[in-house]
Amino acid sequence: MKFHGKYPSTRLRRGRNEDWVRRLISENNLSINDLIMPIFICEGKNKIEKIHSMPGVYRYSLDKLGSVIKRIEKLKIPLVALFPYISPSKKDVFGSEALNENNLICRALKTIKKNFEIGVMCDVALDPFTNHGHDGLLKNNKVVNDETIKVLIQQALLYAKNNCDIIAPSDMMDGRIGLIRKSLEKNNFINTKILSYAVKYASNFYGPFRDAVGSKKLLQGDKKSYQMDFRNSDEALREVALDIKEGADFVMVKPGMLYLDIIKKIKDNFKIPVFAYQVSGEYSLIKLGIKNKILNNGSIKESLISFKRAGSSAIITYFAEEIANQLKKN
Ligand code: PBG
Repeated sequence: MKFHGKYPSTRLRRGRNEDWVRRLISENNLSINDLIMPIFICEGKNKIEKIHSMPGVYRYSLDKLGSVIKRIEKLKIPLVALFPYISPSKKDVFGSEALNENNLICRALKTIKKNFEIGVMCDVALDPFTNHGHDGLLKNNKVVNDETIKVLIQQALLYAKNNCDIIAPSDMMDGRIGLIRKSLEKNNFINTKILSYAVKYASNFYGPFRDAVGSKKLLQGDKKSYQMDFRNSDEALREVALDIKEGADFVMVKPGMLYLDIIKKIKDNFKIPVFAYQVSGEYSLIKLGIKNKILNNGSIKESLISFKRAGSSAIITYFAEEIANQLKKN
């Protein structure tokens, strides 16, 4: 690209001088349509539990879920993402509860899909259900790929049967998108969408989420043998290329703000909707910054617009409801 013109005939500040002109020429904008709201759910009744490391985020028992969804749907946020806090007594080494037809996620799906139009997405991975906190099955202390996929296929089918709209494998096993897609097609779930967590880094920013689903204290070791090394970016393109070939409808980059370069690269190389996940650690940093008056409230929108500028279609963010309320007011 070539730029012509020089000072004083060119003064870029002319385009910044009034609010109306700034609005007129803005290149990127955030809309409520871009937002995905993550919701943590738990067993029991009448529960709205605080999550210590995520101020302003709660776990809801299913009897409290309806009123939350009602608020979100009224704001016209298109999609919610459900994450379960499974009681420790239900966790085992295989994550068996993941395949229980009456587990927390299945019951939540029934409640929501019976009463609401809003889209629902569910993670496919075993970590909320295992007593070791890993996303897959262990053999000699390593997560085993192909054996894990067999369980993930069942988990995906179970969610599809309960009218989950978007299946989101977040486990990072090789080859799972293709096999999940194949089994969905075979079982006639031809409209069930797959959002692949195609590029998920072994990040230090997931801590508060692991608190929220109760896997933090359980987690043995780290997830570096399956989640991506954050020194790499070419590898991200290879992951995305494979997942598109295997039948993913959309791909996700996670975490978000530290990986804007990856979002941009994917968007430039593949014309597929890219979703960004502003993860728990990013949320809590900003939230605590605002709470302690180190940052001002505008930092939320600035962080979310950065995803739009990089090329994201949609953003999973714990700020979804808060920012939607702001956007609605303006
Ligand atoms: C689990 C999963 C994680 C997140 C979403 N799904 C954590 C992990 O991989 O350990 C993190 C989300 C966040 O930090 O907000 N497969």
